[in-house]
Amino acid sequence: MRRILVIGIGTGDPDHITLAGIKALQRARVVFVLDKGEHKAALVDLRRAICARHLAAGSYHWVELEQGARAASLAYTSAVQHWHAERAALYERAFLGELGDDDTGAILVWGDPALYDSTLRVLEQVRERVAFEYEVVPGISSPQLLAARHKISLNQIAGAVHVTTGRRLTSEGWPPHGDDVVVMLDGECAFRQLDDPELEIYWGAYLGSEHELLCSGRLAERKEEIVQLRASARARHGWIMDTYLLRRRRAR
Ligand SMILES: C[S@@+](CC[C@H](N)C(=O)[O-])C[C@H]1O[C@@H](n2cnc3c(N)ncnc32)[C@H](O)[C@@H]1O
Repeated sequence: MRRILVIGIGTGDPDHITLAGIKALQRARVVFVLDKGEHKAALVDLRRAICARHLAAGSYHWVELEQGARAASLAYTSAVQHWHAERAALYERAFLGELGDDDTGAILVWGDPALYDSTLRVLEQVRERVAFEYEVVPGISSPQLLAARHKISLNQIAGAVHVTTGRRLTSEGWPPHGDDVVVMLDGECAFRQLDDPELEIYWGAYLGSEHELLCSGRLAERKEEIVQLRASARARHGWIMDTYLLRRRRAR
């Protein structure tokens, strides 16, 4: 039976892959790499660095798969479904073409596979057509690293944490009963629309990498600074990935 190891690799620092992740990687003969977008080079470089460090040269086969951009003509949900189907077809062809019947491949997932990553959903689609088993090895996600860098916990005492996207924060506003809201996938600085003077922000970009940026404080006082930091860093590097926690302090 073919095996696929889905391994979380952290979000920029090659030291952030776990020992379990390294052990899993060393079981693979083929490494599949499928990324796209403006950050593609950075995403691929981290994977290359990890493989170069932990695998003997020549002991594995590196397979990069190319996928086009998401269809701009479709509504968001249909575009994502279409894009997942394309991705599933790419993996299907790659598994059949690159893996023998009893072979092992690895997919190195940015951060943790459980958080805003389509790999597991897509693999379930592939399994409808190709037989293989798979394992998931967790990695350090960007919210975890954000919390570590700011030396905070994501929740307040016995509190809840809401994880959402910039798009949802914009369309739905502040979540009901939310005290701590982690926002990911926000290309538009959705925090700008919030005007509660009590809100705090803990922001991080390029977490784990040499370009890492951090900023925190009262949202009202930091908004413009973060917008500027973000714009200039993006212009400098050609891409940006950032995550932030918005906190409304609960009465002690
Ligand atoms: C497609 S999601 C992938 C999340 C990833 N699976 C994780 O565990 O963090 C991409 C989003 O994750 C966040 N992200 C990923 N890497 C990051 C980094 N190095 N620094 C800050 N945010 C990051 C950003 O919000 C980005 O838009």
